[in-house]
Amino acid sequence: MSLNIQSEIDIMKVASSKINEVDFENLTFGNVFTDHMLVCDFKEGAWQKPAIKPYEPFLLDPSAKVFHYGQAIFEGMKAYKTEDDSVWLFRPDENYIRFNKSAERMCMPEVPESVFLDGLKELLKIEKDWVKKGKGNTLYIRPFMIAIGSGVVAQPSTQYRFMIILSPARAYYSGEVKVLVADYYSRAANGGIGAAKAAGNYSGQFYPTKLANEQGFQQVIWTDDSTHTKLEEAGTMNVFFRINDTLYTAPTSERILDGVTRKSLIDLAKREGIHVDVRPVLVSELVEGAKNGTLKEIFGAGTAAVVNPIVGFSYQDTYYELPKIENSMALALKEKLTNIQYKLAEDTFGWTVKV
Ligand code: COI
Repeated sequence: MSLNIQSEIDIMKVASSKINEVDFENLTFGNVFTDHMLVCDFKEGAWQKPAIKPYEPFLLDPSAKVFHYGQAIFEGMKAYKTEDDSVWLFRPDENYIRFNKSAERMCMPEVPESVFLDGLKELLKIEKDWVKKGKGNTLYIRPFMIAIGSGVVAQPSTQYRFMIILSPARAYYSGEVKVLVADYYSRAANGGIGAAKAAGNYSGQFYPTKLANEQGFQQVIWTDDSTHTKLEEAGTMNVFFRINDTLYTAPTSERILDGVTRKSLIDLAKREGIHVDVRPVLVSELVEGAKNGTLKEIFGAGTAAVVNPIVGFSYQDTYYELPKIENSMALALKEKLTNIQYKLAEDTFGWTVKV
């Protein structure tokens, strides 16, 4: 149920904005934050009154459970501004639902819609000048929740902090993306937390990704943990493979994140008459396709990365470069998706939501 959030939220604004200090033409992803943030604490079994306040550091007890047991989840969303200065969200309900699924898996309390969605809209109204017009400009939205209760006993916290911070953003990756297909390390296992957007799913990838970076690859494509024969997802995005004119992507599972961009691209591709096959894709199919020329494209899909073509992959010390192609499905789908997000094309799916 949605409450009348304006009367349900404390709003403290900054005395002066730092927006004029920001070089919006030269942003690196996730380094600049807007003037305000939303904060809402959970204690004694209940969510407290949310507040929108100046973006600033805060104090936590050194024994707070987030530091010791990683009880932390997040979401990634974006806001877009159209030529008439209105600000739009893309499928925010999907992020809200997924956030609470992650919360359940991590033994954290469900966040009410009035705090997550209405609070976000209120925050965006205050920060609307930070959403710049023009395709490619977005305001990246990072809702997250951490366990703030103190004590190093290994049990779920009884106190949590939900926050939303905002960061003006352009592309996540600059330059070509080459990937390493994992044959040893794993991102997730059955029965684990792979489907949750839990902080630990990302930090667990840092070391193998660092090793991949050292070999010249930007990302790892994870394979299933038990056989390492099935392609699953990349570190910051889901992945699609085009073999001949069919698009393949792995089904979501308890190991694979149910990406909002992924599911939107599947719907868009189907609408465009592209054959989409959602099924486990084998590493051997990828290698075979690269060798016989039927593998035309690989691309990543995620909120931050949008649709990111991958130029080649390495598997067990052999690098396979993909052919340069005209009529890229990745780029065509990216265009269709971003046209909907920026309200440059009719949103027949009803995905966009005005702030
Ligand atoms: C996103 O795409 O929003 C994500 O959450 C991925 C993150 C690692 C940047």
